[in-house]
Amino acid sequence: MTDKDQRRDQRRETDRRAPRGRRAGARREGERRLTKAGQTPEASSGRRPAAAARITDAGRLELILDVTRRLMSVTDLTALLRLMAEATTQLLDCDRATVFLVDHETREVWSKVALGTGEIRFPIGRGIAGAVAETGEIVNIPEAYADPRFNPEPDRRTGYRTESLLTYPMTGHVGRVVGVFQAVNKRGGPFTEHDEATLSSLAASAAVAVENAQLVEAQRQLWTSLVETLAVTVDARDQQTAGHSRRVTRYAEVIARAMGMSDVEVERVRTAGLLHDYGKIAVRDRFLQKAGKLDDAEFAYMKAHAEKTAEFLQHLRFPPDMRDVPLMAAQHHERMDGKGYPMGLPGERIHLGARIVAAADVFDALTAPRYYKPAYPLDKTLEIMGGMAGDHLDPQVIEAVHRALSELEATIEELKPTWPKPGDEGMGSIQEAAGGLSERDRAALDEKAKATSAPPPAS
Ligand code: C2E
Ligand code: SIN
Ligand code: SIN
Ligand code: FE
Repeated sequence: MTDKDQRRDQRRETDRRAPRGRRAGARREGERRLTKAGQTPEASSGRRPAAAARITDAGRLELILDVTRRLMSVTDLTALLRLMAEATTQLLDCDRATVFLVDHETREVWSKVALGTGEIRFPIGRGIAGAVAETGEIVNIPEAYADPRFNPEPDRRTGYRTESLLTYPMTGHVGRVVGVFQAVNKRGGPFTEHDEATLSSLAASAAVAVENAQLVEAQRQLWTSLVETLAVTVDARDQQTAGHSRRVTRYAEVIARAMGMSDVEVERVRTAGLLHDYGKIAVRDRFLQKAGKLDDAEFAYMKAHAEKTAEFLQHLRFPPDMRDVPLMAAQHHERMDGKGYPMGLPGERIHLGARIVAAADVFDALTAPRYYKPAYPLDKTLEIMGGMAGDHLDPQVIEAVHRALSELEATIEELKPTWPKPGDEGMGSIQEAAGGLSERDRAALDEKAKATSAPPPAS
């Protein structure tokens, strides 16, 4: 490090502590000289005169307030970074700006809105942005190529010519650097003390917005992983239900999309799919794992799982847009004719999301093997579900199943590895299931045969 660099660094340090106390004259002169000396002819031509380009102080304040308002309403980090970069370019009247975030866990600095493509990521401490992330100090460079800290490699790759560079920390509420602004090529001269003051106002509200968005994201991740953990727990009860909740979720998602639902509606249906059988956590193994058909008493006991789902989910405080999920999950065994359980609700009182989960549930019960039945082929599944349309399942939902058939078929193939396998505990008996049908379906077939053939002779 040269003496000149050291002096400059000391000056920056002073600037950071007392930005207003700076002797404006000395530095500005130095900057102008440097910039003029380093300017290439292409870069100086075509530039608007600085005075015309500069927005007024009142206009700048207005813009900062407007950006602050908008920042506070954005909880998506990528959108936030883009908005902050745009605001910086406009406020400082520079050519481009990048906003980096600091990932303290990996000790990296990253950005999604870097010039050109994709995400860039580098360690805290590397380069100018990395140094600012580490030290929290402002780095204002009038002429990049005259500064040893500048890495010209990105310019060489892109053919861009960096001249002035203002790199500014975004400091969070406990004094930690949460991000870094990097403004490039101020029009009409280097970045000024005034630009630093402007960025300081923007950085203060940006830090709050970023920390807020990170909190929202952390909560969303906590929520999603909690719901997934609940689903995995109930699926782990035994091999038969292994993967069932996740498969139902995927089928329900495909069907909901085919019905034209919005993203948030689809997310509700997905969550209900993940949680629909949660009540099975309280069902005894001897019922859950019975190889043959359940008798009436056993089935009555098994039915309690739907109510249990509602009862257990009561204890979870769902976010406002997920409030219907426990209801949808609890209604997944209701039937259109009102003969379902636990409430015996008629079709129009069953949540549409529950009718979708019901169809997805049956779709998986039929296409995958169970202790009490083998996997049915798709055509057999559709035939049985077609027979259930109206009385049991919602015909509108069955239509969506048909519309989404190729996607459902691809999803079955993708999820086959999650099926219970013949070698799994209790799964041996499905191999012997007579006629490849469950007892329930054989009984239904016998009923139909009786009804359509000549009345049996009196005995
Ligand atoms: P599950 O195995 O996840 O089945 C969900 C739903 O899919 C069933 O709800 C039923 O509507 C449909 N379904 C399942 N298997 C068949 C089948 O072989 N043929 C036809 N036509 N539909 C089928 P349901 O009936 O209310 O049963 C709820 C849960 O009770 C089932 O969840 C399963 O855990 C258990 N269960 C039902 N029947 C039997 C059975 O015969 N034996 C055993 N071991 N368990 C049964
Ligand atoms: C880079 O663009 O490589 C990182 C930015 C910097 O060095 O300040
Ligand atoms: C939703 O969660 O809003 C979708 C289900 C419905 O509209 O009933
Ligand atoms: Fe169920």
